[in-house]
Amino acid sequence: MKINVGVVFGGRSVENEISVITANQAMQAMDKEKYSITPIYITKTGKWYSGEALLNVDNYRDTKKLLDMCEEVYMRPIYGDNNLYRTKKGLFKKEIVTKLDVILPALHGTNCEDGTFQGIMEFCGIPYTGCNTLASANGMDKITMKMILKECGIPVVDYSWFSDKEWDDKKAATIERIENHLGYPVIVKPANSGSSVGIRAAHNREELLEAVDYAISFTSRIIIEKYVQKLKEVNCAVLGNYYDCEASVCEVPVRSGEILSYQDKYMNGGKQSQGMQSTVREIPANLPEASTDFIRKTACETFRALDCDGVARIDFIIDEATGDIFVNEINTIPGSLSFYLWEYSEINFDKLIDRLIDIAFRRKQDAGFKAVNYGENIFAAKAAGGSKTGGKFGKLGK
Ligand SMILES: Nc1ncnc2c1ncn2[C@@H]1O[C@H](COP(=O)(O)OP(=O)(O)O)[C@@H](O)[C@H]1O
Ligand SMILES: [Mg+2]
Repeated sequence: MKINVGVVFGGRSVENEISVITANQAMQAMDKEKYSITPIYITKTGKWYSGEALLNVDNYRDTKKLLDMCEEVYMRPIYGDNNLYRTKKGLFKKEIVTKLDVILPALHGTNCEDGTFQGIMEFCGIPYTGCNTLASANGMDKITMKMILKECGIPVVDYSWFSDKEWDDKKAATIERIENHLGYPVIVKPANSGSSVGIRAAHNREELLEAVDYAISFTSRIIIEKYVQKLKEVNCAVLGNYYDCEASVCEVPVRSGEILSYQDKYMNGGKQSQGMQSTVREIPANLPEASTDFIRKTACETFRALDCDGVARIDFIIDEATGDIFVNEINTIPGSLSFYLWEYSEINFDKLIDRLIDIAFRRKQDAGFKAVNYGENIFAAKAAGGSKTGGKFGKLGK
């Protein structure tokens, strides 16, 4: 019996298209002897579709036409219900499209990679690949992520943060706090951005005001960091879980301007249909051995500090003026699932997916050993003196 894998992609995210590329690369790579694949595309407005037409990237040029070739589907948030349902059942069409054994989220960005989707999977009790809800949420929010890493002694660039409300209500005080703490230049980021969207450097107060307003147009939580002027970016992926994880080789992505842009990442030389694979990069990174060792060790520490599972890519910044190495961010569902880094560890893309699915099933099995019930039903328990809602447990709601 083949394992039925639901590959979920798209979503209400600025990275919708990038996730189509990641998913299609993964579906092409998966071992068809072992797995049957059910592609599930979430539109930019949040509707779910399934169908063979989703397997051809060329079809995404005309989304309306593509969706006409597919059927709308949904899942029910009921524990133990692994079915994918069709919205429009007909006389000859059953309500259930298929029963899914495991889900592979190939989703990037907000409403997808940030724990929201993983929460649905937890709710349904379906095994799914990659990070759990908590790790996904912490990994997506650059403020929370940096707080956790700092607490664990993992080096991060100096930062400040505030909310859009605070910016509106106490602008002068917030600016003063940032200028005193960080000075200029700084880099302004929406806390939950991805693919460099909404990010700008600011070299003075005027640029800061513009950059914050721009970032606020994307999200309500803003992080401002010291701008590392002479930097080298190095990425390293980690595969496994808390108890057993390994780091990949390192890569250096090449940028064309002040920051590594959306264009640098995905649109190089007209190779946009290859997602992260189209970034110009040096791989393995040509770094001193001590730096490589530090980065690979710190990548695993970051993965464990955030309680990640599956594959994640940890992005570093080397300050070339001082030699300091910082964790910049974690991508809990990395572009192209970082398959191109694992090939150097002799783990080809199909084997990478085998590992991810194996880790997903193990996590589900481990979760089964944890208690979800505690003791007796307090309503059924005979109160030890007093009314049924009082007695042993005191007043309800306290
Ligand atoms: N502190 C910093 N100093 C200098 N450049 C930075 C800094 N942080 C990020 N960048 C640049 O901005 C890019 C995007 O920032 P990043 O935090 O990775 O956000 P995203 O989640 O959008 O990829 C980085 O790849 C890097 O080129
Ligand atoms: Mg980045």
